[in-house]
Amino acid sequence: MRKSELESAMADSGPDVNGVPEIDLTDPEVIRDPFTAYGDARERSPLARLLIPGMPMWAVTRHEDARALLADPRFEITESSFMRPDVPADCLPYMRTMSETEGREHVRLRRLVAPAFTARRAAAFRPRIERIVEGLLDELPAHAEDGSVDLLWHFARPLPMDVICELVGIPEADRPSWREYGATIASGAGQAFAAAIPAIMRGAEAAVARRREEPGDDLLSDLVRVRDEDGDRLSEIELVMLVWQLVLSGQTPTNLIANAVAALLDHPEQLAALREDPALTPHAVEELVRWCGPTLLTIPRHAREDTELYGVPIGKGEPVTVAVAAANRDPRVFADPDRLDVTRVPGTPGTASHLGFSHGPHFCVGASLARVQTEAALTALLRRLPGLTPAVPLAGLRAPDPGTWRLTALPVTA
Ligand code: HEM
Repeated sequence: MRKSELESAMADSGPDVNGVPEIDLTDPEVIRDPFTAYGDARERSPLARLLIPGMPMWAVTRHEDARALLADPRFEITESSFMRPDVPADCLPYMRTMSETEGREHVRLRRLVAPAFTARRAAAFRPRIERIVEGLLDELPAHAEDGSVDLLWHFARPLPMDVICELVGIPEADRPSWREYGATIASGAGQAFAAAIPAIMRGAEAAVARRREEPGDDLLSDLVRVRDEDGDRLSEIELVMLVWQLVLSGQTPTNLIANAVAALLDHPEQLAALREDPALTPHAVEELVRWCGPTLLTIPRHAREDTELYGVPIGKGEPVTVAVAAANRDPRVFADPDRLDVTRVPGTPGTASHLGFSHGPHFCVGASLARVQTEAALTALLRRLPGLTPAVPLAGLRAPDPGTWRLTALPVTA
């Protein structure tokens, strides 16, 4: 059956057509609890249809199939994988990020930045991360109002931005502006993002110019050297693009840290286990990425040619995403998948590797850095705030965002 036939069959006969369930991403119940909606779909079919106004897409729901799709050369990330707000013409060239490239171009760009993000480099960076963590916790009491403080705004948000600015080499004086750009992007507002783009691009250009004049011990200084010594490996446009892409993607741990704190507060026995044995923290972080990581859906891939998935025809150019929220709770590879268990060890029987950082060529470059800073954040929080308690029910503070599982605030008392 061709796409149009399948779509009209779906429209005629409701939420489960030819075994392909539909998920309406404008449904407030799906937004409130995506795990149930995706979980139901996963148990009915390896493929679901996501109803998104103006951009319906397919979603792979099961873990093994999802891994296969993310490494399947029949599907590629393209320009149409991203929503392009109105961008002034002079900014457009900078919008083609590393995520949007494939093949040799992608490998070339990735090889330039990957050495700064290895597990070893992230571990070596840990003392600097811990200093930032302790500094933010020192300032927390000054932000308290009526006995409670918002950990999202005063801890989980500034931490990753300060860390990535330090690693990339954004000059100190420019960091407040990057915090602002970060907050605008994180709020997911299309118009505000569009309006912020020229300032973000100018900010990235200014950071490049500064490091060219005053090199330091940071990634940007290394990239400027590559650019100036061997222009074939990196163009000036790519250099500026990498600065803004890395700094803004570097803030994703905000949502993991906030989700992790909320999940632990909601599961006092898991919180107690972690307090009792802080050596569990690396496992706990991995489990928290699986159970409540911020990525609900990957960037959609597009079929290079007419093809099919699980017997369903997929037309050339049609978008297919991975429902990470479904794959990470697939009972085929995770025992008791809906249970948060900070003692789970990935790679042991009953626990596969989660897909919270994706898989394949576009696997998250910053995964090790994200893990280390989340570990440092949770370790220090639990040590310094022994009475940590939600100030209001946190379930009501979820952002209505179908792509990212995130909170709008995290008010706590300590
Ligand atoms: C908890 C924190 C994070 C999560 C959950 C996360 C998640 C992801 C995911 C799911 C992807 C791949 C998307 C896809 O395949 O469709 C990705 C890619 C990427 N991430 Fe992260 N990320 C996190 C932190 C970071 C950090 C700290 C950085 C630092 C620079 C970063 C930089 C990137 C970049 C540059 C890519 C594109 C890689 C490529 O296309 O080759 N991320 N991330």
